[in-house]
Amino acid sequence: MADEQDSNEEQLYPSPSANVPPAPPGAARKVRVPHLLQMKRDGRPIVMVTAYDAMFAQLADEGGVDIILVGDSAGMVVHGYETTLPVTMEMMLLHTAAVSRGGRRAMVVGDMPFMSFQVSVEESIRNAGRFVQEAGAEAVKVEGRNERVLPVIEGIAAAGIPVMGHIGLTPQSVHAFGGFRVQGRGEEAAEALVRLAKAQESAGAFSIVLEAIPVALAERITREIAIPTIGIGAGAACDGQVLVMHDLLGLNDSPPKFNRRYADLRAATLRAFRKFGRDVRERHFPAEGETYG
Ligand code: KIV
Repeated sequence: MADEQDSNEEQLYPSPSANVPPAPPGAARKVRVPHLLQMKRDGRPIVMVTAYDAMFAQLADEGGVDIILVGDSAGMVVHGYETTLPVTMEMMLLHTAAVSRGGRRAMVVGDMPFMSFQVSVEESIRNAGRFVQEAGAEAVKVEGRNERVLPVIEGIAAAGIPVMGHIGLTPQSVHAFGGFRVQGRGEEAAEALVRLAKAQESAGAFSIVLEAIPVALAERITREIAIPTIGIGAGAACDGQVLVMHDLLGLNDSPPKFNRRYADLRAATLRAFRKFGRDVRERHFPAEGETYG
C-alpha cells in the first residue's frame, strides 16, 4: 500500500542513481583483475581516478575510467585534514559504499587507511573484508613503504580479495619521510624500490601504484614486473595513470606539480555560487516555473 502511494507521488528528490540509464544489452562488462593484466600485456593504458561519493563515481564511470580508487586522500580533499593520517575505517567504508552505488563498469578499489593494516595480518584481512562485505569494493589498496607490508598483501590476497600495492611516496608515512618528498632517488633507494615492487608482486598484489618516483625508476619497475603499474607523478612509462579527482577537475587551487587540470571547476563553482547569491539577494530566484505552484 505504502509502495503504491509512493509511486504515485511526485519525486521531489530523485536519487542520483535515477540518472543512470540501465545498462544496455552488450554494455561494457565490469573491469576485473584479468582485464587489467591483459591491458598491460596489450600495452593499453589503464585509467584510474579517485572518487569519494556516488555522484562523481557515476560520472567517472560514465566517463570511461577503468578503476575508481576511493583514496584515503578523502581525508585531505573532502575532510580538510593536512594529511591522510586521521582517516579511519568508518570514514573509508562510508565513502566506498557511496562510490560502489555510483559505479557500474569501473573496478572499485578501497584504500586501507592508516592503522587498518599496520598492526597485524589478521586485523588487515578483517578490515579488507569489511571493504568488500560492507562497502561493495572489489579490491583494496595498501601502502607499503617496506617489507613489513608483504605478509599483509599475502594474507589479504589469500583471503580472495585482490590487493593493489602502493610504493614510493606513501603518504601515510609522511612523518617518517619528513614531508611529502620524492622517493627512490639515488642508486640504493632505487634498488630498494625495485626489490619491494617485485616482492609485492610475489606476495600476490595484482597491481602497484608508483607515487612520486623518478621516471627512469618507474620505467624499470614497469618493465621488470608482470602486473600493471599505475603512476602518479612517476612519468609516462607506467601501465596506467591515476590523478586525484579534485586536482584533475581543477577544484584544488594548489595541486601538485605533476597534475594536469582537465577542467576548471573551481572557477565554474565560484561563478555559480556568486550568481546564485546575487539572484537570491535581488529576488531573481526563484522565478515562475521554479516552484511547485
Ligand atoms: O589516496 C589516494 O588518493 C591515493 C592516490 C593518490 C594513489 O593513494
